[in-house]
Amino acid sequence: MKKFLYTLVKLSGKILVKYFTKNLTVEFKAKHNPVTQADKEAEEVIKNYITQKFPQDKFICEESCPEVNKIDNSTRYWIIDPLDGTVNFTHKLPIFCISIGILQERKVIEAIVYNPITEVIYYAKRGYGAYKNDKKILVSKTKNLYNSLLVTGFPYYTYKNPKRVFKLFNKFAISSQAIRRLGSAALDLCMVAEGIFDGFWEENLQVWDVAAGSLIVKEAGGKVTDYYGNNNYLFGKTIVASNKKIHYQMLEIIKEVISGRSAAV
Ligand code: IPD
Ligand code: CA
Ligand code: CA
Repeated sequence: MKKFLYTLVKLSGKILVKYFTKNLTVEFKAKHNPVTQADKEAEEVIKNYITQKFPQDKFICEESCPEVNKIDNSTRYWIIDPLDGTVNFTHKLPIFCISIGILQERKVIEAIVYNPITEVIYYAKRGYGAYKNDKKILVSKTKNLYNSLLVTGFPYYTYKNPKRVFKLFNKFAISSQAIRRLGSAALDLCMVAEGIFDGFWEENLQVWDVAAGSLIVKEAGGKVTDYYGNNNYLFGKTIVASNKKIHYQMLEIIKEVISGRSAAV
């Protein structure tokens, strides 16, 4: 399957690269949430390629099949974000990727994330470790939140309800070494996996944003939960991923802010 996944992302990566230098028409699915011809065409190519080889498999994918009804445990699902980082893409910022996770019995069993500009491929298989361009990767060893470099993103609805998002951001900002915001959740997770970032948190992400990256973090030795320390991060719309060592410290910050115990910052 690894070879198939590599071919798949390289094929669809060519479509993204073709459109990256062009002036694209940007449509909006919701305020600030863009989609382009590149997203749609890449997703179509990915789905067709998979269907030819695995006709019995099903899809959960951002542009053409986002509905997640009941997950059937006897079916294999391909969870696809054909372009993660569309805002970056439309502004010609080369931080974006294709993200594909394979889900079986509610668990992501194999994952790939590919930035076609840098040609970096992250890959993981459950129980077999995580790899960046075929070299094994591991999370960082940082023990304390105050020495940590964190990464996050802001949901598209931030303009409607910015309070909690920025409260959390402020609290993490004064509790860590620094925070970065790159604009691609899948790449954020991969960079936790390779030890660049010590931790990541974000809310309102969809399953296609986090399916692949979360397996890559776990296979690199990290920990992934929802905001409450539980396992519901694929469909639960909140996620915390870390090098494991600072995980509890991150959850404590979130708990303080959500419960209103944290002094306003
Ligand atoms: C977005 C990116 C971004 C995150 C947004 C996502 P898209 O995905 O992952 O980093 O902050 O919440 O929706 O729309 O570029 O596929
Ligand atoms: Ca996405
Ligand atoms: Ca997308």
